[in-house]
Amino acid sequence: MANVVVVGAQWGDEGKGKIVDWLSERADVIARFQGGHNAGHTLVIDGTVYKLHALPSGVVRGGKLSVIGNGVVLDPWHLISEIETLRGQGVVITPETLMIAENTPLILPIHGELDRAREAQNSVAKIGTTGRGIGPAYEDKVGRRVVRVADLADAATLELRVDRALIHHDALRRGLGLPPVDRDALISNLRDVADEILQYAAPVWKVMTEARKAGKRILFEGAQGALLDIDFGTYPFVTSSNVIAGQAATGVGLGPGAIDFVLGIVKAYTTRVGEGPFPTELLDDDGQRLGERGHEFGTTTGRKRRCGWFDACLVRQTCATSGVNGISLTKLDVLDGFETLKICVGYDLDGKVLDYLPTAADQQARCKPIYEEMPGWSESTEGARSWAELPANAIKYVRRVEELIDCPVALLSTSPEREDTILVRDPFAD
Ligand code: GDP
Ligand code: IMO
Ligand code: MG
Repeated sequence: MANVVVVGAQWGDEGKGKIVDWLSERADVIARFQGGHNAGHTLVIDGTVYKLHALPSGVVRGGKLSVIGNGVVLDPWHLISEIETLRGQGVVITPETLMIAENTPLILPIHGELDRAREAQNSVAKIGTTGRGIGPAYEDKVGRRVVRVADLADAATLELRVDRALIHHDALRRGLGLPPVDRDALISNLRDVADEILQYAAPVWKVMTEARKAGKRILFEGAQGALLDIDFGTYPFVTSSNVIAGQAATGVGLGPGAIDFVLGIVKAYTTRVGEGPFPTELLDDDGQRLGERGHEFGTTTGRKRRCGWFDACLVRQTCATSGVNGISLTKLDVLDGFETLKICVGYDLDGKVLDYLPTAADQQARCKPIYEEMPGWSESTEGARSWAELPANAIKYVRRVEELIDCPVALLSTSPEREDTILVRDPFAD
């Protein structure tokens, strides 16, 4: 049985949620393996919109097991409110359908405060984060001072863990001019949510191992995108986790052999939220038009997304670092009506042609995109559900993208609706 990892191949918001939801019909288990509620995954099913942040997109379908793996950082208060919102939309979530790894680190209110205080300091510090405490929570995990799900079960352990974290946080907060943490209130607030969270807690590594042995199909749901990866992204303007496909295994407690197919989600143009380099960014009417047609506003923060032409050079790079076997090309319909389309095929760095984005920030800033032009199409691709419905020039665009990124298309998406999807090659059939 094939297990599939879905990862973003750009700067996030490629349409992962829609594709995970579509693929989840073929899966038994859907697992998040990194990131937190900085993610915003939108699903549209028969006109009803669902927005998932911490929960795997598989919860909406019902009858599947949704898993939050140890690679995630989890805000318990947010999770409870997200579960309530979805229940309000008729989604059934129980300890039988949702499991949270016991070794998952918790995001505490002090992480969000620290995140936002740093962002507010000055322009040198600013990353343009979602302000949800993701970075500080991962720092505490690596710093061996984070509170984890399992710690909620025992009052003495919980106090010990909080005290361990506060030695560091109170020192840091003094430097930032923030008041010391109210220790007792924090412990009491954690105890208030402990039982609610613990009902979903499980040894996820074991559950996943047993699911594999039983021949269950696992769908791993990535958040963010490869260019936000802590190692391979546009550092320091990145998120604080490994986003690329290799993380799927460690993020739930399975070996690398558990991954059979990596599906990269690729938007037919490029967007980015927050600060950082973006070689093909358009600050003109074309950029404006992409943003308007694509409704490019963040699902999590509502911020306007920066827009630009498709960067084949970057996607070739991210397909390599995630070992992508096939892509899902999304939002093709947003390109309808452009007379000419541009695709970045490489960079000019001080007169030298590069076929990858260099690591040094100053060089990234000097990289000028080298464009190839393609004719657009005047017909509508919106809602197309078969190749036959696509105009000839749209097919040419898709084929050229495949050539340039050196990776075949497995799925095509032509609207936010679940069923407006074209299957070219079934990732689970591999
Ligand atoms: P994610 O973070 O990768 O799950 O993506 P988001 O949900 O943040 O952003 C993608 C947006 O594009 C959402 O509003 C989706 O409903 C929408 N979307 C997904 N696929 C398509 C598509 O093929 N065409 C159009 N027009 N919108 C799409
Ligand atoms: P999904 O899963 C787009 C960006 C933020 C910021 C940087 C760091 O919906 O694709 P963080 O809060 O993670 O410390 O912010 O990463 N970012 C995203 N951009 N989509 C996302 O998630 C993102 N999650 C984080 O805007 O630039
Ligand atoms: Mg998103």
